[in-house]
Amino acid sequence: MKEFELTPRLQAVAGLVPPGAALADVGTDHAYLPAWLLGRGLVRRAIAADINKGPLDRARLTAQQYGCTDQMEFRLCDGLAGIAPDEVDTIVIAGMGGETIAAILQAAAWVRDGRYTLILQPMSAQPDLRSWLWRNGFSIKKEEIICEGDKLYNILVASYGEAARLSVGEEWAGRQSREMDQPLRGEYLARLLAKLDRAMAGISRGKSGTQDPRLETLRQAQTELIVMKKEWDEWQR
Ligand SMILES: C[S@@+](CC[C@H](N)C(=O)[O-])C[C@H]1O[C@@H](n2cnc3c(N)ncnc32)[C@H](O)[C@@H]1O
Repeated sequence: MKEFELTPRLQAVAGLVPPGAALADVGTDHAYLPAWLLGRGLVRRAIAADINKGPLDRARLTAQQYGCTDQMEFRLCDGLAGIAPDEVDTIVIAGMGGETIAAILQAAAWVRDGRYTLILQPMSAQPDLRSWLWRNGFSIKKEEIICEGDKLYNILVASYGEAARLSVGEEWAGRQSREMDQPLRGEYLARLLAKLDRAMAGISRGKSGTQDPRLETLRQAQTELIVMKKEWDEWQR
């Protein structure tokens, strides 16, 4: 089987897949992730799933190119609809919006079981995804922040059970603790604060101006994030 390199974002996702996993890669597109993991013998099986035919054709091509067609299965389906609960123990949903990821999980009641590891990499709406997770009984076990180009990406590892309530600020930035290994967290918090500033300025310029009810939640997030950033910077000294 031929070997190839992943981009830093997908490499970080791959690093979080438990060794020997039975993997579903939902929204696989080129299937680079399952091909890379199969090529190195890091997973015992892989299902490459996508809602669109074009991406799934590309996935088949990648499997051919890298000689893992026999070990990869292909499913044309919406989210997890074409995957049976006993086929997998690890589910990756990467490169999609946070709301789409939450909708995919919402539609598959069987993932509400502590035996599944969910590795989620939202491209947007991270607060909505964290909010959905804890409100639906999932706990976030770990988060990684990685840099590709000039962008920062989050990867969340979650599973069902032991859900902890998150504050608004924690929905925005994830929960932090002194011992966590997140070298990019300071930069991440700074960028979130800038994003909040832009969001609040945009809303304030709108029809309801400073009376817009969304501002209250954003102000709360801002207040918490300022405290989190200060705390994090102190921990790094
Ligand atoms: C930007 S690509 C991400 C590819 C790869 N997972 C990555 O992270 O690089 C998003 C893929 O998700 C697929 N997709 C979008 N919504 C989906 C859904 N509800 N179920 C399955 N696949 C979906 C799209 O067809 C597309 O191939």
